[in-house]
Amino acid sequence: MDFTLSEEQLMIRQAARDFARNELLPGVIERDEEQKFPTPQIKKMGEMGFMGMMVDPKYGGSGLDTISYAIAMEEFSKVDASASVVVSVNNSLVCWGLEAFGSEAQKEKYLKRLATGEIIGAFCLSEPEAGSDATSQRTTAIDKGDHYVLNGTKNWITNGNTAEVYLVIAQTNREKGHKGINALIVEKGTEGFEIGPKENKLGIRGSDTHSLIFNDVIVPKENRIGEDGFGFKFAMKTLAGGRIGIAAQALGIAAGAYELALKYSKERKAFGTEISNHQAIAFKLADMHTQIEAARHLVYKSAWDKDQGNNYDLSSATAKLYASQVAMETTVEAVQIHGGNGFVKDYHVERLMRDAKITQIYEGTSEIQKIVISRDILKD
Ligand code: CAA
Repeated sequence: MDFTLSEEQLMIRQAARDFARNELLPGVIERDEEQKFPTPQIKKMGEMGFMGMMVDPKYGGSGLDTISYAIAMEEFSKVDASASVVVSVNNSLVCWGLEAFGSEAQKEKYLKRLATGEIIGAFCLSEPEAGSDATSQRTTAIDKGDHYVLNGTKNWITNGNTAEVYLVIAQTNREKGHKGINALIVEKGTEGFEIGPKENKLGIRGSDTHSLIFNDVIVPKENRIGEDGFGFKFAMKTLAGGRIGIAAQALGIAAGAYELALKYSKERKAFGTEISNHQAIAFKLADMHTQIEAARHLVYKSAWDKDQGNNYDLSSATAKLYASQVAMETTVEAVQIHGGNGFVKDYHVERLMRDAKITQIYEGTSEIQKIVISRDILKD
């Protein structure tokens, strides 16, 4: 077993770290406060190859492994989880989904522009009444021969307004249950496709989350991903990889808060010495370090599983469950170590604490990860 990162992975880490410090950090507090999407930053990330990291270069991607992607996600998320969720959805859910299951024509038409960051994509599964229970899709895609007619509402869609291409999961044949679900590519601007109001969120406030409304939207058959009825499996397989990205995001949020707390504890004095000299603080830092190391190993292991061609349903759910819990716990401790300053926006840790919460909710709540894990470990 070799835990050494390759030269290429180390280079990616340095590039992502530099980008986070030089391009994401300036203005991150204001973007959070004003709910401002990081448009120029995402454009630059596209130019640097971060929007289609794992995509084959023949489709405009960087052709990197999943470990490199997780490393970059950690570095971006240490500083700006609003930007990193855009990276994660575009890479893991949209680009990967299209590359793995799309037709050659779909890859030519959509993947190339998505992988280079020329445009960004959205993944539309959740509904007012079908978040965790993903088989209960109310959105319908009625088969009309050479096209589908799409009707319904999607909720909490990341990149809801900024995306140009939407992968929409909808029910074609309710009697067939999950086998009657399809995944369709819908372009922004298609007649009958409306973007609902922006959500005013607790965290990742710089990201762009909307509901989407489909009113008799005509989608050509060539925009269906995979065979008829493949939509639910498409969503499940794609989300398994997405969970690696969000686990890496949670890891980054935790590590970012830890690094700030470590630095602060060596500068701030109380009772005549730096607070890191008090065991009450030093032990908190030791716990945070240990939890983050454990989370990083789970994230890398799942990314490695994916790169090796192993099944990664279990390892990605495990990594996401644990890393998101660590994100929540360590950010709360980072605020505590900062004392009154931790409650103030200038010190960044309160934002990281707010951002951490979503990692226990999106791409499957912690309870969903426990369903996936327990079903796997209990089978046969
Ligand atoms: N790979 C391939 N197939 C899979 C699979 C996987 N990972 N998981 C399930 N399936 C298949 C099953 O084998 C089964 O097929 P067969 O009948 O042919 O055997 C079928 O899918 C149905 O599976 P289940 O019976 O397990 O389905 P279920 O109704 O019990 O649901 C669930 C399972 C795990 C709870 C699932 O509904 C789920 O993951 N829900 C959470 C959805 C989610 O993550 N939503 C997040 C929205 S996206 C988002 O947040 C993006 C963003 O904006 C950041």
